[in-house]
Amino acid sequence: MYSAFALLALAFTGIASALPTIQKRDPPTSPGCVGLGGGAFDNISSFTLAAYNKTLPNANSTGAPLVLGQAGAIVGASFKVLSTYASYPYDDYPGLTMVNGGIVRGDSLVGTNITAGRFPGFILTGIDLPPPAQIYCGLASTSAHGGGTGFPKLAAFGDTESWSLCPNGNGPFKQVNVVYKATPDNFGSYIYDQCYAVDLQIIEN
Ligand SMILES: *[C@@H]1O[C@H](CO)[C@@H](O)[C@H](O)[C@H]1NC(C)=O
Ligand SMILES: *[C@@H]1O[C@H](CO)[C@@H](O)[C@H](O)[C@H]1NC(C)=O
Ligand SMILES: *[C@@H]1O[C@H](CO)[C@@H](O)[C@H](O)[C@H]1NC(C)=O
Ligand SMILES: *[C@@H]1O[C@H](CO)[C@@H](O)[C@H](O)[C@H]1NC(C)=O
Repeated sequence: MYSAFALLALAFTGIASALPTIQKRDPPTSPGCVGLGGGAFDNISSFTLAAYNKTLPNANSTGAPLVLGQAGAIVGASFKVLSTYASYPYDDYPGLTMVNGGIVRGDSLVGTNITAGRFPGFILTGIDLPPPAQIYCGLASTSAHGGGTGFPKLAAFGDTESWSLCPNGNGPFKQVNVVYKATPDNFGSYIYDQCYAVDLQIIEN
């Protein structure tokens, strides 16, 4: 019995080593990918983001281009949010990279942790850059037949469905920023009644 088992194991080992190596991308390990299944990926060499209005129709399948908009500064560092280019027409920091579910740009900008009801934030600094929060993930689009646009979606905490665009005021220089889990209890940082749900699309370049 024992030897038959051993022989069987040997036989299987033999078969396994005779098979060609299957080419497969490593499964993502980022906590940002939890629950997203086989279409998830947590490394992207260069990408930008665009907001696709969930309330159809959209002008095109890309959606509104997003840039890093200003969100204040302290000595030695400034804070950024994701703003529509239409509301903040300065693409000063084009091209982001995702590494192990953290968003970075060069060695001076990282995405920080996200709190529900707030703008996903970034810090830009040349001194003491913190590590990026490993909370993001990409999720490949369903096929065109499934109603997808063809672009992967950005997730945070394994969730692609909680992004909105919200204006931060009513004036001529208002910025329209991405919010995670928009809420009326936002300390006046955006106008909840004017938020609308979007998918954050990953445009790889
Ligand atoms: C993502 O990139 C990092 C850094 O290069 C690497 O260590 C990691 O294995 C990559 N992850 C996947 C899933 O390929
Ligand atoms: C997205 O849809 C909302 C709700 O219909 C609408 O108010 C808003 O103007 C749309 N935004 C864009 C950029 O098309
Ligand atoms: C897609 O439509 C948006 C408006 O929602 C516009 O800002 C953007 O430039 C368009 N993109 C392309 C590739 O045409
Ligand atoms: C990041 O934020 C989430 C909820 O928004 C929280 O559960 C988590 O503990 C935070 N992580 C760190 C490292 O602060």
